[in-house]
Amino acid sequence: MNRAEPLLEINGLASGYGPIGILRAITLSVRAGEIVALLGSNGAGKSTLIRTLCGLLTPSAGSICWLGRDIAGASSQSIVAAGLVQVPEGRRIFPNLSVQDNLLLGSYRRGRAARQANLAAVIERFPRLGERARQAAGTLSGGEQQMLAIARALMAEPRLLILDEPSLGLSPKMVDTLFELISQLHRQGLAILLVEQHVAQSLALASRAYVLENGAMAFSGTPAQLLASDQLRRAYLGV
Ligand SMILES: Nc1ncnc2c1ncn2[C@@H]1O[C@H](COP(=O)(O)OP(=O)(O)O)[C@@H](O)[C@H]1O
Ligand SMILES: [Mg+2]
Repeated sequence: MNRAEPLLEINGLASGYGPIGILRAITLSVRAGEIVALLGSNGAGKSTLIRTLCGLLTPSAGSICWLGRDIAGASSQSIVAAGLVQVPEGRRIFPNLSVQDNLLLGSYRRGRAARQANLAAVIERFPRLGERARQAAGTLSGGEQQMLAIARALMAEPRLLILDEPSLGLSPKMVDTLFELISQLHRQGLAILLVEQHVAQSLALASRAYVLENGAMAFSGTPAQLLASDQLRRAYLGV
């Protein structure tokens, strides 16, 4: 696929929780193979935007084009099947299921052969998950659980991987491992929409960034443009 081709294009999106409007007039795009950083303080609406993209919330206005097709209002299962896959905030693994069963759930819509091939590929990428395949997922360390959550998303064969604050609660060493993984997935051609509080590290990888403030886009542009704004640099990097 041409790298410049848009995978995801959101225009004029509004969304929220029932009668409570949170997001308004959201415009955002992600092209094939690109890392896009989605920044914003706590409560700005980042997770709400992701939940809307993934079909967990229904937009009240606007369009979400995925591979040229409007998916606003489509079911979350069909959106995952089309290759738009998120790793939710807080991981949401099943603690009482084994590591392997958690992984297989990521691929439950595929045939048996594809599922086994995906499992072999993620275990090759994450050998520790292979070593712990039969262990209950809840017994893994925080860092291993985050790797499991990402591995489970990869089992779904994403074209765009959305990571919602993947480094939350991880040790500094695990944060470095996580960013190395993100960089590796990117080098292999995967497009990534990254929500992160480690802003400097995210901007080092991203080709473009968006900043959400109180449910509206306050900035979109390159990391260099963002860093050139004193106001945004102070607000999001504290420098
Ligand atoms: N389930 C919910 N019901 C009602 N309001 C919610 C719900 N979840 C989040 N919100 C509100 O939506 C706003 C945006 O939250 P969120 O998208 O989680 O922000 P972020 O991910 O940027 O921290 C906040 O004001 C939050 O209180
Ligand atoms: Mg959030």
